[in-house]
Formats: sequence, structure tokens, C-alpha cells
Amino acid sequence: MSNQPGIDNAALQEAAKRNLWLHFTRMSTFADADMPLIVRGSGQYVYDQHGKRYLDGLSGLFVSQIGHGRAEVAEAGARQACELAYFPLWSYANPRAIELAARLADLAPGDLNRVFFTTSGSEAVESAWKLAKQYFKTIGEPDRYKVLSREIAYHGTSLGALAITALPGIKAPYEPLPAGGVRIPNTNFYRAPGFVADDWAAFGLWAADEIERAILREGPESVAAVFIEPVQNSGGCFPPPPGYFARVREICDRYGVLLVSDEVICAFGRLGYYFGAERYGYQPDIITFAKGVTSGYAPLGGMLVSDRLMEPFIEGHTTFLHGITFAGHPVSCAVALANLDVFEKEDLLGNVRANEAAFRATLEKLNDLPIVGEVRGDGYFYGIELVKDKVSRETFDDDESERLLRGFLSQALFSAGLICRADDRGDPVIQLAPPLTCTQEHFNEIEQVLRSVLTEAWSRI
Ligand SMILES: Cc1ncc(COP(=O)(O)O)c(C=O)c1O
Repeated sequence: MSNQPGIDNAALQEAAKRNLWLHFTRMSTFADADMPLIVRGSGQYVYDQHGKRYLDGLSGLFVSQIGHGRAEVAEAGARQACELAYFPLWSYANPRAIELAARLADLAPGDLNRVFFTTSGSEAVESAWKLAKQYFKTIGEPDRYKVLSREIAYHGTSLGALAITALPGIKAPYEPLPAGGVRIPNTNFYRAPGFVADDWAAFGLWAADEIERAILREGPESVAAVFIEPVQNSGGCFPPPPGYFARVREICDRYGVLLVSDEVICAFGRLGYYFGAERYGYQPDIITFAKGVTSGYAPLGGMLVSDRLMEPFIEGHTTFLHGITFAGHPVSCAVALANLDVFEKEDLLGNVRANEAAFRATLEKLNDLPIVGEVRGDGYFYGIELVKDKVSRETFDDDESERLLRGFLSQALFSAGLICRADDRGDPVIQLAPPLTCTQEHFNEIEQVLRSVLTEAWSRI
């Protein structure tokens, strides 16, 4: 196959194999094979070194909300780099960080009006935990340090964030992790315990009440915060049952525990709102964000908190003893502002709200395939759980998962021109989170590729 202009695939592959380390990737896969190479993006599509086109069904990694190749956003970054490329938020402010903080405060639900910037989601999560710990020490509740998070949830990889992440497989090599991570159930209704398996709302209240039981078990005076995504990604999109977040909020208030809405994926339109908490009508004490805030045109993350949490740090000598060199980078903030301009100009939230039912309906056509157990999600954020037996909901064993997901599906979907994710960190799922600009033609393309690849997968089981 011929290369795109300016691309020498052989030289890049050789250098990649020698020098580059891919994340969460079994590098031995490339001993005798090329690394997938993405060289260009435009709209909802990306292109490889040979010019082959792929529908970006995962927005890169839940990032590219406005799609690829937006010159106006790139140019906003370039202009800022010429004016002031860098200055730290340690002791100094810069205009773009101020403007972005004010804009996010306007968009955020309720009284969340203070932004602490980071460069990534893991740093945002870890910052929220550090703030919770220091806040409680400062107000005279020094024993509160534990953090509750839901089974198989992913909250990042740095050691603090990893202690909150609840995927045993990716934690094991790094134990012992910082103390204080406590597990609570997620809202996977497809695999709900028998006594609430027929009642979505009752299941939600049970899952929320388990948080109260965990707080009581641990000792309320030791619990600082509960970290929850509006829709849990890991495991394949678990939306909240009705009443779930109202009950969680009530429990947090009862025991003085902070509710952290980890919106690293769910914010910035993924669910048709700027923040997922708005969609489900709850008020967090902290929102963590990253990814879609810049649509990936530069790295940025952060946390939004209320003045109530900020109070001990506003007066007197107390300082939040935490900082990151590149956090609130002027170029990233300029890019985020331009990204939000695109959201407004093109009414991307409106596009998601207008089309999400069509997206769901198109994916639900796949329910006629024997391998599809459940299609679930909200907005432009879906998981498709794969099963061995539709009726009993029996899942695949480790060997089958290995053969099916790693050995076949990931590669076959990519070859068929669809970037999405085949994940078995819980039960095997296909994850989808396309750019917010997608419409019916893209949903059809996703459905057609999945239909043919999943049909082939079933014939190989
Ligand atoms: C919910 C959630 N929190 C935190 C993170 C960590 O973000 P990052 O990879 O930017 O550190 C992720 C990443 O996917 C995430 O999905």
C-alpha cells in the first residue's frame, strides 16, 4: 500500500518499535506487525499512513467532542503561544486561565464557581482527593481521608487516582497503593442482584444505600468523599437509575461526605449537557473534568469546587499545597475557550439532544444478534455488552475473552474502518463515544460495521 505524502511508514515503524512505548498496550503484539498509525483527522474521521479512513467512534479516547481538523481552535492556540506561551499558575494568573475559569463557573451547576486547573483527568481526581483531605484537616475533622468509588470504575492511573480506580487487574502490580480506597456497587442493572433484578428504581436505591452501609462500616468520621461518574464508563456505560443520585446526595449530606462527580468523560456534551450532573439533576461538591474541555487540541483538566470548600483557603495563612507546572497552560486555556465557542456556535448540546434517541435506536437494531446482550448508555455514550448466551446472560471466560476481544474484535473493527473499544475490564463490551457532530449517517456506519464484525465474531466462538 502506498504512503500518504510526507509519510515514510517503514522508517516510522522502525523508530516506533525502537523508541516508542504505547500506553496500556501489549508491546509484543508489534514484534511482527505494524503499529496502527493515525496521521490526520478531519471532522468525524481520522486517516492512517496509507490514507485509509476510519470513523472515530470513540472520539480518540472520549476527547474529540467537536471532531478533528478545526482550524479556528488550532489557530486560537497558535495566537496564544505567540502572545504568551507559558507562565505558571503558581503565584501568577494569566488572562486565558481567568477567562476560562469564569466561563466554566458560569456553565457549572449550582455554586461550583472556583476552578483549580490540572493537565489531566488523573491529576484532577488526585487533586480532588488532596483537597478533600486538606479541607477536612483544616476544618477540624482530621480523620476523614477515605474515598469511596464504585466497582470496576476507572478514575485514572497516578498512584492516588489508582487507589480510587476500582479495576483490580490494573492496580495489582502497584500495590500497596495509598490507603483509603473503599469499594461500593456500581449501577450495572444488567447484572443486578436477584432481589432487585426486576426493578430499576429499587436497584438504584439499593446501590445508593450500599454507600450508606459502607460509610457506617468504615466509620463516618473517617470518610472524606465518594467519587462517582454520572454514567460509569468502565464496564460499558452504566447510567444511573431514577432516584439514585438524589439518594446519594442525601446520604453524603447526612454524613458530611463530599460528593465528587468525576466528569472526565461525561462533561462537555457527552451526555447532551455541559456537565453530566445537570442531566441527572444532582449537585456535586466537586466536579473533575479533562478530555472534552479542549476536545484534545491541547491537554487540560481541572476541578470545579464551591466557595464553601474554598473558604478555609481564602482567609488567613492556609494554602492548598498542591500544583502542577503545566496546569492552566495559557495555550490550553485559549484552546478550551475556542472549543467552547464551537459548542455555542454549532449548538452541539442541541445536536446531541436532538439525535441521541436516533443513536440509541440505531444501536438497538443490533439486539437481533445472538452475541449482543445489552445496549446501554445515554447521550453519545454507549456500551454494548457481549454475551455467550442471550437468555442466561452467561459471559465469556478469560480464554474466550482473550481470543474474542484481543485476538479478533479489536483488529477486525479497526480493519473495517471503525475506531471503538473492545474492553474486558468488566464483562466484555464494545464502547462508543463518537464526536458530538455525528448524525444518522454516522450512526448507520457504526451499526453496519458492528453488525458485520459481530456476526463474524459469533461464527468464531
Ligand atoms: C472517569 C475518568 N476519570 C479519570 C480519568 C483519567 O484521565 P487521564 O487519562 O486524563 O489522566 C479517566 C480517563 O479516561 C476517566 O475516564
